[in-house]
Amino acid sequence: MNWKKVCAVSELDDKSMKSMTIDGIEVLVIRSGNTINVIPPSCPHMLTALTEGIFDGCVLTCTKHLWQWNIEDGTPLGQAEAPLLKYETRQEAGEVYANVEKELSYEYDC
Ligand code: FES
Repeated sequence: MNWKKVCAVSELDDKSMKSMTIDGIEVLVIRSGNTINVIPPSCPHMLTALTEGIFDGCVLTCTKHLWQWNIEDGTPLGQAEAPLLKYETRQEAGEVYANVEKELSYEYDC
């Protein structure tokens, strides 16, 4: 395990996304209520930046080809064909930590 501090929960607005770098790894941090998800910042389809995506508090949408995911468990919705990868996270005393032992990424052959 390589637990690294991400940020304080209070630094994240509810239903928001924030790009961050943790231990040299780029991630996208997404808050939905008291749940914080830390995911790779690119779409599993063609690696488009998900920072340009739309998050409504439950569903994340990549605007390139409209793949969607349930952020709670990363499952694909609609036409999406692959789930989101997620870093293991935990919260302690109002701080968010992610296990960045291994960088998560998608394979895409153009
Ligand atoms: S690149 Fe994201 S849906 Fe195609």
